[in-house]
Amino acid sequence: MFDMFQNWDDQNKQADEARGEGSPSSATGSNSASIGYYNPKKTIVLSVGGSLFFDDKPKTAHIAKFCETVNDLIKGGFAFVLVVGGGQVARTYQASAKSLGANNFEMDEVGISVTKSNVLLFTYNIENAWKDVLQDVKMARKVLSFGRTPVFAGNMPGQTTDAVAASIAEYLQCDFCNLSNVDGIYASDPAVHPGTKMFEELTHTKMLSLVKAIASKPGAHTFVDVHAANILWRSKVRSFFINGSDLTNFKACIRGEQFKGTIVQTASASEEKEDEED
Ligand code: UTP
Repeated sequence: MFDMFQNWDDQNKQADEARGEGSPSSATGSNSASIGYYNPKKTIVLSVGGSLFFDDKPKTAHIAKFCETVNDLIKGGFAFVLVVGGGQVARTYQASAKSLGANNFEMDEVGISVTKSNVLLFTYNIENAWKDVLQDVKMARKVLSFGRTPVFAGNMPGQTTDAVAASIAEYLQCDFCNLSNVDGIYASDPAVHPGTKMFEELTHTKMLSLVKAIASKPGAHTFVDVHAANILWRSKVRSFFINGSDLTNFKACIRGEQFKGTIVQTASASEEKEDEED
């Protein structure tokens, strides 16, 4: 009984904070020191590919190592928004839903539910994680200003968690980092075409053309979906595409050191114009 009320109290404190009614210093969680403001220069939205941490079941040890790295980076002054994908578990559930008669919308709902369960696992190990899976993109800023890590999953049928993450980065005007099981953005799928070239740097317009060209091929698997790419493009969100299984490389990327992967950025309006004319 006591535990039940303890949980109730904690959840209420979170809700009060979210409504701006609680004092940030009363935040729950073991690493809940409030920074009291939001610093876009030190904030990165992480779009974590489900395939990195989930096969037919969660890769718990990998999740723990990843969370440890995130905790270190937070202690080093960085802040994150975490969005986690569905991976193979989502596909397995969706296939089952399909054979039981679910339509496309309903299969998306199943996928969204799986992404919610997936991201929850990370909240148990990231020391200052917000304990509720958020829906409203605008909540990210509030939760960050409490010195906590906001967590998101899928939220709208017909899109992917990459699009959710891109929208958050667009709203917060901060960087976007896509963690997948490939090293960066390639001219074509490296699993199908070994030896294909990896781009170290792309402009937003080139990135968007590439996504559209790859997506137009049957059975294509793009590095982000077209909806997410469009959002990153229209707001020129600086974006990093790296392999999330190499945590040393992940740390280097976040710290602004040399890293393996692709950076998408547009330095100036003239660069954008030149690109569009190509
Ligand atoms: P993912 O974002 O994981 O899609 O969402 P994905 O392309 O399978 O990516 P990874 O590489 O495994 O992470 C899983 C499924 O959940 C549904 C979609 O059906 C998607 O394919 N979903 C997710 C939505 O309908 N809306 C969302 O906002 C997110």
